[in-house]
Amino acid sequence: MELKHLIDYCDITDTDLEEIYELAADIIASPRKYASACSGKIMATLFYEPSTRTQLSFQTAMMRLGGTVMGFSDPNSSSVKKGESLRDTVKVISTYADITVIRNPVEGAAYAASLYSSVPVINAGDGGHLHPTQTLADIFTIRRHRGNCDGLCIGFCGDLLYGRTVHSLISALMRYKNVRIRLISTPQLTIPEYLRDKLDRAGIEYSLHQTIDECIGELDVLYMTRIQKERFSSEDEYRRQAGVYVLTEEKMKAARSDMIVMHPLPKVDEISFGVDDDPRAAYFDQVRNGLYVRMALILLMCGANGEKYESRIYPPPAHERCCRNPRCITNFEKYLPEMSKRVGERQACAYCDCLK
Ligand code: CP
Repeated sequence: MELKHLIDYCDITDTDLEEIYELAADIIASPRKYASACSGKIMATLFYEPSTRTQLSFQTAMMRLGGTVMGFSDPNSSSVKKGESLRDTVKVISTYADITVIRNPVEGAAYAASLYSSVPVINAGDGGHLHPTQTLADIFTIRRHRGNCDGLCIGFCGDLLYGRTVHSLISALMRYKNVRIRLISTPQLTIPEYLRDKLDRAGIEYSLHQTIDECIGELDVLYMTRIQKERFSSEDEYRRQAGVYVLTEEKMKAARSDMIVMHPLPKVDEISFGVDDDPRAAYFDQVRNGLYVRMALILLMCGANGEKYESRIYPPPAHERCCRNPRCITNFEKYLPEMSKRVGERQACAYCDCLK
């Protein structure tokens, strides 16, 4: 596998993706074959933000491969509380561990961590930006239910602005043929500018909707999301958006019999409990699949070669403020170098994808 760090699902080549999905399927079929595959390996899980599924599935995945885990789930229990920089924390951890999984509330934090790590870094969610391993679970789930993603009509509902799982999955779907996307949200929570630009450049057919009813009948997949209280700057702003979209058993009557409902979870009130019993509800299956794709990923990223990477030296930042996105890591960790990437005709921040 060519992949050094997993920051963005788009970093993974088609060949590597097939290898991950085939390996995940083989782990499901023959789990005992892999029970010692990572024996002697140590995974660090650095969670600066709460998590149930991602943290515990990564830990379970490593343990089911025969490896061990260490790390923190509350930065206040680590030296982060004393003011240690992300850079120093990551440098230190990579002297202990063979692979690091990091979740951070700040956009671009995983990319920043990868600059200073001598072992592979996996992005387990960076603020409202990306969540590539959730996307592995999502695509694997769609493939297992529908065989392929080509030609599917996929609706995204809820927080499309800060929903990192939405951003990663929409980008991933651009690799497939004739995918149609329906974006269901309030105008305030529609997808970010960079993603719309990406959809336009890829020539993907998409449309904006304000109600689920407008498009549920044509969907193959309905991807529901939570309105994330933690991403809003005030309680009032959150309250204006909360509770707008609720998928009920009544609404499900208008959906096709083979449509599947997905959700990265946790869910709060956006799906009625009655929908859980509908055979089209695929979100707990998604959770199970998340474990197997993470096992495959760990195995491919740190199972075979344990080589350390050269640490690199970066020039100091040229400007006081590197990125116009106030939620970008460059506005919090001031030593980070300014780094850009070309996106079509434009330049974007290499950490958070914000267009310049
Ligand atoms: N899907 C997901 O990221 O869940 P957690 O926040 O519980 O990890």
